[in-house]
Amino acid sequence: MNDQPLEPPLWEQMAQRSAELPQGERLQKVLAATGYGSRRICEDLIAAGRVTVNDEVAILGRRVDAVNDLVAVDGAPIGVRPDFVYYLLNKPVGVGTTARDTHQRPTVIELVPTTPRVFSVGRLDVDTEGLLLLTNDGNLANRIAHPSHGIEKEYLVEVSGGQVSAGAIRALRDGVELEDGMSAPAKVSQPEPGVLRITIHEGRNRQVRRMCEAVGHRVTRLVRTRIGPISDRSLQPGMWRDLSSDEWRAVTESVAVATAPTDASSTIDARE
Ligand code: URA
Repeated sequence: MNDQPLEPPLWEQMAQRSAELPQGERLQKVLAATGYGSRRICEDLIAAGRVTVNDEVAILGRRVDAVNDLVAVDGAPIGVRPDFVYYLLNKPVGVGTTARDTHQRPTVIELVPTTPRVFSVGRLDVDTEGLLLLTNDGNLANRIAHPSHGIEKEYLVEVSGGQVSAGAIRALRDGVELEDGMSAPAKVSQPEPGVLRITIHEGRNRQVRRMCEAVGHRVTRLVRTRIGPISDRSLQPGMWRDLSSDEWRAVTESVAVATAPTDASSTIDARE
């Protein structure tokens, strides 16, 4: 034995050297590349504590894996990962939103490209038409579907029985008794007799139908016309398109700022 302190094993030294190697890209470079301004501006954002990586506030000098790390500014995730797709579909009546329909009916998955595999963000009843998002980005899908984010969904609703009374509209606005509890306050208007525009931010099973039934009107046609900031009046039933990057950013921001309800006036609809 000699008195010299023993050197750590070579593999430990190698692991240590590897851990010390700079990995990934500098955060300010990644931010600048996604349009947040010059590197200097991006450094200021980081220094101000406005940037998170995987939900932890980032410090200057931080490096990130641009593919696997979730970088956000003021809570809004940046950039679109190249392997993620985001489709906006106008679901026709008679098509299911579950991946495998128990009644052998066609599903929304058959209306969009088969690869990469996507799933629908939330559900629409088979007999409901209108806008539906599909994606393979589970994180964003969960944020949109999660009730805590309260993302608004707007519906045009044709009901039986003609003109809906002012009292019934007031009840729908205030909340009606459903078997699983009161519905939350909703925005309700009647653009023409027997047609309601209802905006809710809950996502309970057959909620709009049950709300209308609670005030004595059966729904004869239900069309979802807006999901948060996303609407498109020119997308025909059965057709789909990619979300634009502005739409992606708007929807991502609307779920990042959580409970603030979306202002319909800021809706993005490039085709209107
Ligand atoms: N409310 C309903 O009743 N059905 C839907 O498909 C969506 C909202």
